[in-house]
Amino acid sequence: MKVTLSVIKADIGGYVGHSGMHPRLMEVAEEELRKAKEAGVIIDFHVLRVGDDLQLIMTHDKGVENGEIHKLAWDIFMECTEEAKRLKLYGAGQDLLTDTFSGNIKGMGPGTAEMEFEERPSEPVIIFMADKTSPGAWNYPLFKIFADPFNTAGLVIDPKLHGGFIFEVIDVFENKKVEFSMPEEMYDMLSLIGAMEHYIIKSVRRKSDNEIAAVSSTQRLSMMAGRYVGKDDPVMIVRAQSGFPAVGEIVEPFAMPHLVAGWMRGSHHGPLMPVAFHQANPTRFDGPPRVIAAGFQLANGKLIGPRDMFDDPSFDEARRIANQMANYMRAMGPFEPHRVGLAEMEYTTLPEVLKKLKGRFVEME
Ligand code: F6R
Ligand code: MG
Ligand code: MG
Repeated sequence: MKVTLSVIKADIGGYVGHSGMHPRLMEVAEEELRKAKEAGVIIDFHVLRVGDDLQLIMTHDKGVENGEIHKLAWDIFMECTEEAKRLKLYGAGQDLLTDTFSGNIKGMGPGTAEMEFEERPSEPVIIFMADKTSPGAWNYPLFKIFADPFNTAGLVIDPKLHGGFIFEVIDVFENKKVEFSMPEEMYDMLSLIGAMEHYIIKSVRRKSDNEIAAVSSTQRLSMMAGRYVGKDDPVMIVRAQSGFPAVGEIVEPFAMPHLVAGWMRGSHHGPLMPVAFHQANPTRFDGPPRVIAAGFQLANGKLIGPRDMFDDPSFDEARRIANQMANYMRAMGPFEPHRVGLAEMEYTTLPEVLKKLKGRFVEME
């Protein structure tokens, strides 16, 4: 059976500030998705949140980028926005860039990661959801999961993974894409994907049969609106086991919190801290950036789960290191590389501040 897994997310109002989500918004989303399930529009659903981002996880048989599914998500975000306005939650409707739906939710503010596949006899998937960072945050873990034999033992010792994977990389500034075959083209790909705000891994496929293995969301809200309107907090879906990396190989990169762009005002580098669902409340300096991992088994499109994958003492050390890294980075205050570079700052409110200084500059002798 072919099933489509769609994760569509948006920040439609924070509680308190940008630190978390009011439970009422999740209830509204659940009520609406329950109706859609009863009406046969979707097979199953689960509502989660990370920080101030509402995550609609849906299964259906309509394929990726389906207008009906996107409109369902859009209408739910609109209704949640109404609720957020009633409660005067912070930044109600923040990610919804227009008032009218135009057929595809992409480019309208919310983030999407979707994949369609033939459900295997057992289909474990892990959905990663992050707050206070951007889609480039997945480059490092995706590389580790699908191309680094020091992370993924299966690349070396499992014949089903040994053939390698194809990475699709997007140039978000030029709106172009390029494919790389791992491991042969590893050095070429690394020369690009190390620039996490410019080149973003969109998807990964297994080389032997072109089967989809992972997809990420690649929207850049800041670019779409022409000015900073909130970081496009990203999501990604990864399939696990039996010819894909094992669950443990997929979560392994997060044991070492890597530095990502985002955090306060979307303008600071900080560690990506893996946390349990209930800990996904970025409060200190609006952070540090958080990631949660929801594991599901699919059963004829039904979402069996979630298992809260980072609710595990084996990630305590990563959280401790992330806190130490946060202390260290915070000590830099407004200095780079804690604050992101000038090119990234162009999409924030900084240019308005700099305008004031323009007339003060005089030619040097
Ligand atoms: C980062 C984020 C927050 C806000 C900050 C200022 O992604 O959402 O750090 O940028 O709290 O928010 P405003 O400008 O809404 O007061
Ligand atoms: Mg927000
Ligand atoms: Mg957010």
